[in-house]
Amino acid sequence: MNQENKGAIASKLLEMIEQRTARIGIIGLGYVGLPLAIHFGEKGFHVIGFDLDSRKIDKILHGESYIKHIPADQIKKMADAKQLDVTIDFSRLSEADCILICVPTPLSDKMEPDLSYLLQTTETIANNLRRGQLIVLESTTYPGTTQEMLLPQLSSTNMKVGQDFFLAFSPEREDPGNKKFTATNIPKVVGGVTNDCLETATALYNSITRSVPVSSTQAAELTKLLENTFRSVNIALVNELKILAHKMGIDLFEVIDAASTKPFGYTPFYPGPGLGGHCIPIDPFYLAWKAKEYDFSTRFIQLAGEINVSMPYYVIEKTVEALNKNKKSLNGSSILILGIAYKKDVDDDRESPGYAIMKMLLEKGATVNYNDPWIPKLHTTRKYNFQMESTPITREILAEMDAVIIVTDHSDYDFAEIVKHSNLIIDTRNATKGIKGANEKIVMA
Ligand SMILES: NC(=O)c1ccc[n+]([C@@H]2O[C@H](COP(=O)([O-])OP(=O)(O)OC[C@H]3O[C@@H](n4cnc5c(N)ncnc54)[C@H](O)[C@@H]3O)[C@@H](O)[C@H]2O)c1
Repeated sequence: MNQENKGAIASKLLEMIEQRTARIGIIGLGYVGLPLAIHFGEKGFHVIGFDLDSRKIDKILHGESYIKHIPADQIKKMADAKQLDVTIDFSRLSEADCILICVPTPLSDKMEPDLSYLLQTTETIANNLRRGQLIVLESTTYPGTTQEMLLPQLSSTNMKVGQDFFLAFSPEREDPGNKKFTATNIPKVVGGVTNDCLETATALYNSITRSVPVSSTQAAELTKLLENTFRSVNIALVNELKILAHKMGIDLFEVIDAASTKPFGYTPFYPGPGLGGHCIPIDPFYLAWKAKEYDFSTRFIQLAGEINVSMPYYVIEKTVEALNKNKKSLNGSSILILGIAYKKDVDDDRESPGYAIMKMLLEKGATVNYNDPWIPKLHTTRKYNFQMESTPITREILAEMDAVIIVTDHSDYDFAEIVKHSNLIIDTRNATKGIKGANEKIVMA
């Protein structure tokens, strides 16, 4: 195929993207893939969503949502307008002109990248690859994945990248539950394997938001890891300072508020019970793992990881101390955990520090209940299997508890009422700030 033909295939795809006749295939309809599918649908593209989980596909087909902050009517509207079509039939991948990969990239038990979902997906795409398709990896991963893992498999079809098909990496920056920043106003960093790969992928994302092209897929991959490592390191810094500030009798939240008045050179981060979610506790370790290939030790990442992982232990230590003051032992105490979601106002409990806290409390002989308006029932996770349902918060239940640990500061909680009726509060989020007359029963942790 000559240079002219190569340009012709890219030009055709560009034209289809511009006219919104390009069909968008999205693989993995989770916290990232589902909102992305909706946004492309809302911009006039026909979207085909793919997932292995038939329960999710059934729900969408019935116009229901399985992610609490995504309203069902948004899905129903999209499906009724025939803008969103979902399936577990991956042979239909050949119908899509642009395929966006949004499958999980977790860590293994040994804290190493688990690319099994991604490799399986790549194999499926390779089996269905057709000339003229653009493939974009959105899942977070270490620098080099697109070129070292995806490219060889897709090229094994005898089609040539940048000529027959196009390959790019564009990190997903979705912040679930954030109403201010969504896929339509968060700029999209894009790196392509070739110039035509970059141009087609940039054009695609320009149709929903602003693209930020970079020189390579590796640069785009590292951009995402820089963003999340930056968060992890800064959160670890304030977590460490929180422990020091407690010892000094200083309120670190007051200090952070004061520091935030500096109009330049400072970004506020807040301490908490430990890291949670699919990104911050995991992504930096993708980089640390890859760095070993270069005989390089990412010391900031390791240290931040150690500090952040130790925070649930600190919460337990503060709980033991506080119960002790009340002449009680943790063994035999009744504890209520408020919030098991990893952050406020979402139904995502992945890697939640609440689970680590719950496990330690149970191991030390406490009776544990939890309440979370966003998570009515605990399901089995990779690490934990607590068969529990959310306990309603009544005055009586609060009064029965020896301690209430605030792990997540959901907006639904009436903290004044919670403080009023509880015997002891361990507040890991500064959620009880400004609640007067109850200082003696609140411990900041
Ligand atoms: N959740 C976030 O806030 C967030 C933000 C930015 C980036 N990311 C990254 O985006 C990626 C996806 O994260 P998520 O939170 O959406 O995960 P998720 O677990 O919510 O969704 C992933 C979906 O992929 C499906 N899936 C798994 N293997 C599949 C396969 N082989 N074929 C088709 N579907 C498959 C699962 O059933 C699930 O529905 C990860 O790399 C994550 O690090 C997540």
